[in-house]
Amino acid sequence: MKKIVILSGAGISAESGISTFRDSDGLWENYKVEEVASIEGWYKDKGKVLQFYNLRRKDIESKNPNKAHLIVAQLQEKYNVTVVTQNIDNLHERAGSKKVIHLHGEITKGRGEGENYYDAIDIGYTDIQLGDKAKDGSQLRPHIVWFGEAVPELEKGIKAVSEADILIVVGTSLVVYPAAGLINYTKNNCRIFLIDPNDVSTNVPHTHIKEKASVGMEKLLNIIDKL
Ligand code: OAD
Repeated sequence: MKKIVILSGAGISAESGISTFRDSDGLWENYKVEEVASIEGWYKDKGKVLQFYNLRRKDIESKNPNKAHLIVAQLQEKYNVTVVTQNIDNLHERAGSKKVIHLHGEITKGRGEGENYYDAIDIGYTDIQLGDKAKDGSQLRPHIVWFGEAVPELEKGIKAVSEADILIVVGTSLVVYPAAGLINYTKNNCRIFLIDPNDVSTNVPHTHIKEKASVGMEKLLNIIDKL
């Protein structure tokens, strides 16, 4: 069974109605990334950070997987598929994808600020308030990888990408490292496809399907079935 890895970013969830970060009117136009998505921002104003992620969580609760997520899940019928996503939403899982590696954490989980990454617990769609405590007595925080923090799932992502026969990069600007660097770990004969309606700068040879994620994934289905 051929191995396919999907490296996804915010763009795959755009057609579900979830904002991307760097498009016009993306989240980073309306919020300061260093205030709401960095470890320094957390220690400066925990209330502000919690509010930002409480809004993200509520937003995601109200949204559904789109055709692109569904096609990614459908690929599992014929291929050995691993999704490596930068997204903190759960739309890949809700579409039916079984193997999902979240590089930047998961919005429906929380953990204590004094706890380990793998101590995270499910919190569903409930808000986290200042004063909510984790098991160890520390302030509960969103299970998100912030700028300035390590990416504990990176090794798993590297392993998946290095074993892939086909890599599908969809809906990511490839500007945030180390996630963006994953495309450099493919083996020599791996075919790389990139789905994005806009130009994306990368140094690896690839086929660019210049479409939104849903149309792009549909087109790609026909291509990879013939490989
Ligand atoms: P970006 O907002 O940087 O990039 C989104 C990409 O999706 C762009 O290349 C868009 O052209 C593309 N796009 C927009 N609409 C699309 C659609 N309908 N179909 C397909 N592609 C579309 O988002 P990411 O690359 O995911 O991290 O950002 C990476 C990380 O930066 C995020 O995980 C987040 C952010 O800061 C943290 O907060 C730690």
